[in-house]
Amino acid sequence: MKLVEDLPLKQAPTSTGTQIEFRNVTKMYGAVAAVRDLSLSVCQGEFLTVLGPSGSGKTTALMLLAGFIAPTSGDILISGRSVGTVPSYRRDQGIVFQNYALFPHLTVRRNLEFPLEMRGMKAAERAVLVDRMLHRVHLQDFGERMPGQLSGGQQQRVALARALVADPPILLLDEPLGALDRNLREQMQIEIKSLHKEFGKTTICVTHDQDEALTLSDRIVVMRAGQIEQIDTPELLYDRPATRFVANFLGEANIFESTAFKTETDAVQPTGTVVMIRPERVRISAVTVPKPSDADRRQFVTGVVEDMIYAGPLRKYQVRVGGSSLLVREHVASEQQTFKAGDEVRLDWLRSDLRFVAA
Ligand SMILES: Nc1ncnc2c1ncn2[C@@H]1O[C@H](COP(=O)(O)OP(=O)(O)O)[C@@H](O)[C@H]1O
Ligand SMILES: [Mg+2]
Repeated sequence: MKLVEDLPLKQAPTSTGTQIEFRNVTKMYGAVAAVRDLSLSVCQGEFLTVLGPSGSGKTTALMLLAGFIAPTSGDILISGRSVGTVPSYRRDQGIVFQNYALFPHLTVRRNLEFPLEMRGMKAAERAVLVDRMLHRVHLQDFGERMPGQLSGGQQQRVALARALVADPPILLLDEPLGALDRNLREQMQIEIKSLHKEFGKTTICVTHDQDEALTLSDRIVVMRAGQIEQIDTPELLYDRPATRFVANFLGEANIFESTAFKTETDAVQPTGTVVMIRPERVRISAVTVPKPSDADRRQFVTGVVEDMIYAGPLRKYQVRVGGSSLLVREHVASEQQTFKAGDEVRLDWLRSDLRFVAA
């Protein structure tokens, strides 16, 4: 028997397009703030990734939104209404959590039916939705299998299908691809992106994998020790990291801090910042090669190759310049000169490619 009160809350976006809002949310475990004073708005249809190292509060933030735990202070709003007293099963969210696995004693089909039964849907209607969703994730032939008879990738597709089958407006994913090997993870990233495009669910995805975050997201929130370090689009986060932590966590960064040479910047360096450049923005060449035509916009230094790492389509050089060691990353091209440890080389970069990041 389903009571009317048990039915999920219907959620519509507010006029501003904001669907989910964290307002100064803190979650304490004893003296530890797993999440501290978190404020964040997520738009209808947005794919937002929460990225950060282990222990930075990502899962806690998602569990608070799902209603599995309650905030110590602050409020969470969905469609403009506080969900403080709304139990998790009425929040109408599709969930794929690592610890929220498939029911091992139910067939794939029964797993997908479960959220529909919870909503009081009749068997005939359930069968139609389950069939459609199994087809959508290419598992139409696997409905009668038990989860244990599926590969890891298939199980995650079932988990995604179960999260989406009841058509919830919000999808929550916690390290959804964490258990898969690299190739499968890349395939599933494409699958998740395609599902997002098709269904347009407001999606919050937690990961510690920077490639996953860059590939999937409209915006990325970088978390550090329970707090937001920066929120931006993938492009801006990579190209304009606000802090040294973000610069190092998302991609690789050369930070100039030694006094081996003076970095020539186009702008005045704000106090409290260090100068950063991405390794692919540094060019390596033989010292004998004539300087390029845009030499006036560049800075040139000479150094000695310490190490060359071959990485398929990339070469990475570690180059000692005075007291610093700079990383250079270049795409392998034909007829390109390669250098080995001990070679003297010239490095140069556009001064406009230097960034100031908070130290
Ligand atoms: N149930 C809990 N009891 C005590 N401490 C917890 C609990 N859950 C999380 N924490 C602590 O809160 C912090 C954030 O954890 P978590 O949100 O799981 O991080 P993440 O998902 O980013 O790895 C960590 O320091 C963790 O040890
Ligand atoms: Mg986690």
